[in-house]
Amino acid sequence: MTCVSFPNRTDTLSVVVMAETMRAIIQDELGGPEVLHEASIEIPTPGIGQVLVRVRAAGVNPADFMNRQTGVFSGTPPFTLGWDLAGVVAAVGPGITLFEPGDDVFGLLPFPRGAGAYAEYVVAPPRALIRKPDALSFTQAASLPLAGLTAWQMLVETAHISDGSTVLITGATGGVGHLAVQIAKALGAHVTAVVSAQNAELARTLGADAIIDYTSTDFSRQVRGLDVVFDVIGGDYPLRALDVLRPGGMLISTLPQSLGPSRAAAAERGLRVAGVFVESDRLGLMQITELVVSGTLTPLIAATFPLERADQAHSFKGQGKVVLEVP
Ligand SMILES: NC(=O)c1ccc[n+]([C@@H]2O[C@H](COP(=O)([O-])OP(=O)(O)OC[C@H]3O[C@@H](n4cnc5c(N)ncnc54)[C@H](OP(=O)(O)O)[C@@H]3O)[C@@H](O)[C@H]2O)c1
Repeated sequence: MTCVSFPNRTDTLSVVVMAETMRAIIQDELGGPEVLHEASIEIPTPGIGQVLVRVRAAGVNPADFMNRQTGVFSGTPPFTLGWDLAGVVAAVGPGITLFEPGDDVFGLLPFPRGAGAYAEYVVAPPRALIRKPDALSFTQAASLPLAGLTAWQMLVETAHISDGSTVLITGATGGVGHLAVQIAKALGAHVTAVVSAQNAELARTLGADAIIDYTSTDFSRQVRGLDVVFDVIGGDYPLRALDVLRPGGMLISTLPQSLGPSRAAAAERGLRVAGVFVESDRLGLMQITELVVSGTLTPLIAATFPLERADQAHSFKGQGKVVLEVP
């Protein structure tokens, strides 16, 4: 592939003569952030059921850290990390009608086997993507899919929270948590946020009704009779969470592997437990995006790094989301 034109664009991307190779972040071995390095690799060609996206921003997630260290999702290196992307459709495979070159899109590559967004180009199934509204920057768009869909699939499609639901959210100012708080509030829930004292003000700004500082207070002694606990921490939190639920209440976790001991204890007490692994879902992402466009949901960008500084992005600690930018 040598040439792609974007006839409906007037900016600098209107005509792009594509090289045969691209910059990508790869790792040749498992390990810490230092194993991530830039390389020049071949630009993939979109086949049946694929579009080629010129990546403008790629979201960073803790699952990337785990994958980098263990290869749990991508196997043996070399491989390229990254599920969250926002960019411009550069080419479409045979029979694709959903998008055309020049369309601004974003989405979640199929989780967990579809990683590869830390690169200038990536192929994606079109139905993992949606059009990016102008109201969202590429950076904001890339911050949303994995964390937002996790919160959506847990709160809306698993716990079915609604107006008046009482929900406790741990890690409430982190990548998933800050979106979960806002989505729960948008659905009319009363939200108790479990955060460190330094993030209490941020949690209130996001909409939390009550705050518990986990550095000084055991949340399981502070509240009772809640409908839902949304946990992103694991450890002994799932077991402790059972104490704060009403009969029939539900514990939902982003860490299904942490739920072992709590499942039997919950069953004995008439409580429900569910662990969720996020799925790529364009309809869910559309609903999340509507909340953003209407001003109800705001992604919090903790920091941005250029693609070649993925190693620094993986070492950064902050609240909200970290995003790689690919100008
Ligand atoms: N199953 C799935 O599909 C799925 C999807 C997304 C994420 N996840 C997992 O969910 C977890 C959270 O993801 P994330 O993106 O939200 O991570 P993150 O951005 O690192 O956020 C974690 C949050 O937890 C807070 N925290 C740390 N220790 C805490 C404690 N003991 N009690 C309460 N809060 C605490 C941190 O705040 P402080 O800095 O104040 O400590 C931070 O705000 C990760 O393990 C990730 O792998 C799973």
